[in-house]
Amino acid sequence: MACILQGAYVSSHRQFNDKDGSTPRPCSSVVVRSVVTTLETMKTITPCVPPLRSLKERKELISEGKFGRFGGKFVPETLVTCLSQLEAEFKKALHDELFQEELATALREFVGRETPLYNAERLSEYYKSKNSGEGPEIYLKREDLNHCGSHKMNNALAQAMIANRIGKRDVITATGAGQHGLATSAACAKLGLECTVFMAAKDMDRQYSNVQFMKLLGAQVEAVNGSFKDAASDAFRCWVENLEKSYLLTGSAVGPHPCPTMVREFQSVIGKETKKQALKKWGGKPDVLIACVGTGSNALGLFHEFIKDEDVRLIGVEAGGLGLKSGKHSSTLTNGEVGVYHGAMSYLLQDEYGQIIEPHSIAAGMEYPGVSPELSFLKESGRAQFCSATDQEALNALTVVKFSAYERLCKLEGIIPSLEAAHALAILDKVVPTLCNGHKVVVNCCGRGDKDAPIVLDRTI
Ligand SMILES: Cc1ncc(COP(=O)(O)O)c(C=O)c1O
Repeated sequence: MACILQGAYVSSHRQFNDKDGSTPRPCSSVVVRSVVTTLETMKTITPCVPPLRSLKERKELISEGKFGRFGGKFVPETLVTCLSQLEAEFKKALHDELFQEELATALREFVGRETPLYNAERLSEYYKSKNSGEGPEIYLKREDLNHCGSHKMNNALAQAMIANRIGKRDVITATGAGQHGLATSAACAKLGLECTVFMAAKDMDRQYSNVQFMKLLGAQVEAVNGSFKDAASDAFRCWVENLEKSYLLTGSAVGPHPCPTMVREFQSVIGKETKKQALKKWGGKPDVLIACVGTGSNALGLFHEFIKDEDVRLIGVEAGGLGLKSGKHSSTLTNGEVGVYHGAMSYLLQDEYGQIIEPHSIAAGMEYPGVSPELSFLKESGRAQFCSATDQEALNALTVVKFSAYERLCKLEGIIPSLEAAHALAILDKVVPTLCNGHKVVVNCCGRGDKDAPIVLDRTI
């Protein structure tokens, strides 16, 4: 079975570049309007541009598990039944009032929701002081305050509850930064489920504290050679070998349908809360939403509720690593091409033969060569903008600015963000100058930085 899987799931990334794909290559005027760019090369991020496709056109291109040409279920036939069962259980849970009540209670009492929409006044003042006292108001959606320190808990808890409901006692997962592994370990402990977490050995080293916490919570942590993508492949293999009893709990907005949709659905609580909180705080919507993009779960979590609000700009920030020209980055939407990987079609980092290019980022949670099919569609339809911030821009330790992006939040707001969240914060330097007085920007502070302290101190001292 592992062999079949190797061929069909792990290595089946085939290149569908724009020339071969069903969607025609954008015309040159569209390319000119493209706002997909990088911090490295742009002076300022392009101000709001209308989407290339209307809301109605976009709606027509979305069906179950398909976002235009992206998404799908590129898996061997043997897995289709399992995925269909999972989809049926997911839909049942969504429409089951008891499940929804139990989830709402657990999100409130176990996770600590709702998370604040925090007015980062001193951070806003910092930017205003550079522009004659004018500039937007910056707010942080405090997902770092969730139990276990990140947005990952929203989805991990909900999916663990589904596993429990359908009697799958062995939960299998993969983690990069360890935040999803930690959240899943905690959710499984709460529900009395067994938990096995696959994690790349190099990530176990750099996110050591999370590994220790997972073990304390009773999870078995399996070391894997390679990076997060290889851990994800091993978790998938392990699931396939034990389909009867095990549940593959994906924390990333990738993989075959229904995985990305489930993850997005359970993360969309972030945007739903943000919308209500914004209305209460200033009587309107945010003007700009910013989130980092690893696979896309926190970005979609924040963006999804606002996709139909065309006046709200959506900006995703990928990991620029050592710079796009170095080839060592994880900027899939900014710099990738369309292909199939881990069971779905999305933008990918791949070479001319369709083979995966190893991703890199200082933030373990950003290192993945694929990305959410739904974000791929938001890029292609022009509804969201994507750019990238390098390792150094996330840390920004050696620049002449008063503080690095990372330090700025620590020292101006008393908040230590994760390195993943620091990528989203880094782009404020480029976005803020394009905004007016009174504009409201919400940055998803998707994780707290405890796990990254050794890396950051090593690079900044
Ligand atoms: C705290 C944190 N933020 C962001 C990410 C990136 O993942 P995603 O893009 O799915 O939110 C991760 C991934 O591990 C993470 O741990």
